[in-house]
Amino acid sequence: MPDREGDYSLAVCYERAMAMSIERTDARPWRDEHLKELFSEGFPEFITADRLVKEYIGRIREWFGDLNLMLVDDHDVPVASGWGVPIRWDGQPEDLPAGYTEALVRAVEGHEQGIEPDTLVICGAIVTPSLKGRGLAGEVLTALRQTAGQSGWDRVIAPVRPTAKARYPLTPIETFMRWSREDGTALDPWIRTHQRLGATLLAAAPASQTMTGTVAEWEGWTGMTFPDSGEYVIPGGLSLLRIDRSADQGVYQEPNVWMRHS
Ligand SMILES: CC(C)(COP(=O)(O)OP(=O)(O)OC[C@H]1O[C@@H](n2cnc3c(N)ncnc32)[C@H](O)[C@@H]1OP(=O)(O)O)[C@@H](O)C(=O)NCCC(=O)NCCS
Repeated sequence: MPDREGDYSLAVCYERAMAMSIERTDARPWRDEHLKELFSEGFPEFITADRLVKEYIGRIREWFGDLNLMLVDDHDVPVASGWGVPIRWDGQPEDLPAGYTEALVRAVEGHEQGIEPDTLVICGAIVTPSLKGRGLAGEVLTALRQTAGQSGWDRVIAPVRPTAKARYPLTPIETFMRWSREDGTALDPWIRTHQRLGATLLAAAPASQTMTGTVAEWEGWTGMTFPDSGEYVIPGGLSLLRIDRSADQGVYQEPNVWMRHS
């Protein structure tokens, strides 16, 4: 009886949503098994191979903990997470960071130079696998936006990593971001979530992140072999991996989409 089961799970979901709360991620230690479950799906292994992110992420975690939030259910289980960084941005597309990585760099360097931020950059969100598709990411994004409001920042933007782009690695991001469904909303579900919260497309970010590694590292991350230099479609890749065997190097540039929340 699928209808009754559906009704039941909706009711359970509603009750759980009612009982959920937002906390800072650094407010307390979280159980390892809960974190493992929360972060178990959604990102390819090579996502951590961005050299600049590795260099800056420690200071981000330390300085911008108020922008790193957990959605917690009534059993104290973290079921979704999202985080961002504050930057100064003049509101013009030309002044946007090139993407995710440059936003992190601008946030850290701005903080070090004492530059007053006026913009929240939402950098990412994740929902525990069993609760995807129920609007929990929207709860986290809303909480982050409220934090921006409380800080008096005028603007909220995001270099959105379009989750469906991995199925279209050959398509330029400028084209992909404009694809829409019959109802006018974006083809990409994660772009749609932002649109539901009132966000609009701002600009393509074709080189939002750059991941580099040796050929052996890329083979380990992707479970593939790369016998020749050239371009390869890789699992979970939003664009192509470029292998240069003579330099023993693989470079992958991740495209994102800048969106602006109202
Ligand atoms: C992207 C993500 C954060 C969205 O969170 P969410 O709470 O599931 O978001 P929503 O409830 O708004 O659902 C978004 C879309 O996911 C789709 N969806 C539904 N069930 C799903 C499931 N089980 N798995 C994946 N996507 C699902 C739906 O199509 C929905 O779009 P629609 O309602 O317009 O059709 C979540 O899927 C996730 O954690 N993904 C892995 C990490 C990631 O890619 N994060 C984004 C980049 S930082």
